Amino acid sequence: MPIVSDATRYRWRTRLARRVHRLGDAVAPPPPPDQLRRRVGGNWEVIGKLQFDYLVSEGMRPEHRLIDVGCGTLRGGVHYVGYLDSGNYFGIDLGPEMIEGGRGELARAGLDTKTVHLRATDTFDVDFGVPFDYGMALSVFTHVSLNSITLCLSNLSSALAVGGRFYGTYFRGPASPERTTPIAQPFHPGFSQVTTYCDRNPFHYTFDDLRHAAADLPLQLDDVGDWGHPRGQQMLRVTRTA
Ligand SMILES: C[S@@+](CC[C@H](N)C(=O)[O-])C[C@H]1O[C@@H](n2cnc3c(N)ncnc32)[C@H](O)[C@@H]1O
Repeated sequence: MPIVSDATRYRWRTRLARRVHRLGDAVAPPPPPDQLRRRVGGNWEVIGKLQFDYLVSEGMRPEHRLIDVGCGTLRGGVHYVGYLDSGNYFGIDLGPEMIEGGRGELARAGLDTKTVHLRATDTFDVDFGVPFDYGMALSVFTHVSLNSITLCLSNLSSALAVGGRFYGTYFRGPASPERTTPIAQPFHPGFSQVTTYCDRNPFHYTFDDLRHAAADLPLQLDDVGDWGHPRGQQMLRVTRTA
């Protein structure tokens, strides 16, 4: 009779537990739309329309291709998809449930006849084999580390068309030595205040931090600053130069 070591039994048990866990995820009902809308920060109409109007004011037209980084459940996406020519909206997000939720939002908005390209990825994989004229990461850099921002900008530097523009929102924080101080961000009446940190989510950065994240990439960074976000998020504009 073969002898099975404790280590082997442990490996089998671990593998079985992982499979049971994955099966549970696969059969679990998707989170309801309201819950997903809350997970992207609520304020569904206001923030959805704000980011869309902003990109149109920056020159986005229906024939342009847009990459929506951290698209969530398409709070902005429903506006972008409604406006852009079919096939010109591309979205990525960390959460497969967000991507599925986004498809649900498109169906509810009567936009599921339009072609969209959605991808779940944890590596900011924005390579869809086509160059992008515009990009947006709304409330994404506010939740990730500077190294994640570096990865995102690095991937975008080859996915944007030369001259293409990408916009990202971020919370502004102080430079050293006050960098480690928690910052109460400004907010509009009727909206809640956000406190940001240098070492945890939600993060604050200086514009120089972001420039550092893009060092050596063929990207020009401009600090647009206040663009009317009701919870104090600042706007960064990134242009591919070569
Ligand atoms: C506050 S929500 C904003 C969603 C969307 N941009 C909007 O305006 O509704 C942030 C989104 O970024 C996604 N996210 C966070 N880290 C990410 C990463 N490393 N790669 C891709 N998506 C990410 C989250 O899953 C979430 O959907």
